[in-house]
Amino acid sequence: MTVVSPTPDTIARLRDEFGAELAAAETDRALQAVRDRYLARKGGVIAALMKAVAAAAPEARPALGKLTNDLKTDIEARVADKRAALDASRAPAGAVDVTLPGRLTPLGHRHPLTVVRDQMEDIFTRMGFAIVEGPEVEDEWHCFDALNMPAEHPARDMQDTLYLATPMPGDSYARPDAAGGHGDKDVRTLLRTHTSSMQIRYMQAHTPPIRIVVPGRVYRRDDLDLTHTPAFSQVEGLVVGEGISLADLKGTLTAFARDMFGPRSRLRFRPSFFPYTEPSAEVDISCWKCDGDGCAMCKRSGWLEILGCGMVHPAVFESVGYDAERYTGFAWGMGIERVAILRYQVEDIRLFYENDLRFLEQFPY
Ligand code: DAH
Repeated sequence: MTVVSPTPDTIARLRDEFGAELAAAETDRALQAVRDRYLARKGGVIAALMKAVAAAAPEARPALGKLTNDLKTDIEARVADKRAALDASRAPAGAVDVTLPGRLTPLGHRHPLTVVRDQMEDIFTRMGFAIVEGPEVEDEWHCFDALNMPAEHPARDMQDTLYLATPMPGDSYARPDAAGGHGDKDVRTLLRTHTSSMQIRYMQAHTPPIRIVVPGRVYRRDDLDLTHTPAFSQVEGLVVGEGISLADLKGTLTAFARDMFGPRSRLRFRPSFFPYTEPSAEVDISCWKCDGDGCAMCKRSGWLEILGCGMVHPAVFESVGYDAERYTGFAWGMGIERVAILRYQVEDIRLFYENDLRFLEQFPY
């Protein structure tokens, strides 16, 4: 209704129209539209009415002006009441809006080396191996002598092995003497250079049959570079019993490789030398990326070196008092970093130790 010349009657009708529109407004939007239609400074019904009142006959103006002002105040109050009523009909303040999308909480996850170690433990556990751990601080006898490594073996050199300044008092870490005691000579101690020392420790304490896997940290006197760290991790394996053969060694490691790197994996055994095994072999795995065809990953050879192994040397059995005529066995040692590097194509071993989240977050576990 456009008011050209207002009268008390037309103003009363405007009030009724407003009342009907207000009652019909059931949303914030609709309410806002009603408010704007009546109260907008430009083009609003009240603004137009005021203009018309100003143009009315002077004697009618005061009464019309008052009616108009009353109407305006009334509209403002009723819009505010309706707004409050709409607000109150909604969820109470602080209520949970279950339709909002959820917020993701960043979760930590296992380190890639832990993931690989857990996978290895899982595979060997399923094959019937027990998982055992041993001390990182070792004595020379367990780390070297008992493993048939003579005093002049280069790995025992101060250049290669981290020796500890404090020797251990003669105790269970030393070679047992004839009386089954440990003498009271001080023992030179070191950080174990390989997990193979645990072969000795375990055999000293158990009789065959033995089927163990020993994961753990080892230390060497190396400077950090792309492929070396002074501390890294290995998984040692040891099987001892009657009639254990090289075929068992090959079968066990092949089953592991297929599980770890995929069912098409093949192993290649290259003759090698370790003092504690005879025969000894280094083992390559067919490159899982190109399946042996040759690619950048395997430097075009089709093979990736993965571990060292062999049949336990009779001299090792003699160190722990086993009958070398009766028992045979096999052993291996592989680097956890090495497996992780091959598995995930990591180019720099240092990345595993720098705790850079941009690297760690790429592992989906
Ligand atoms: N101890 C060796 C190393 O650290 C790995 C190794 C080779 C372990 C042959 C063994 C083995 O048990 O039989 O490089």
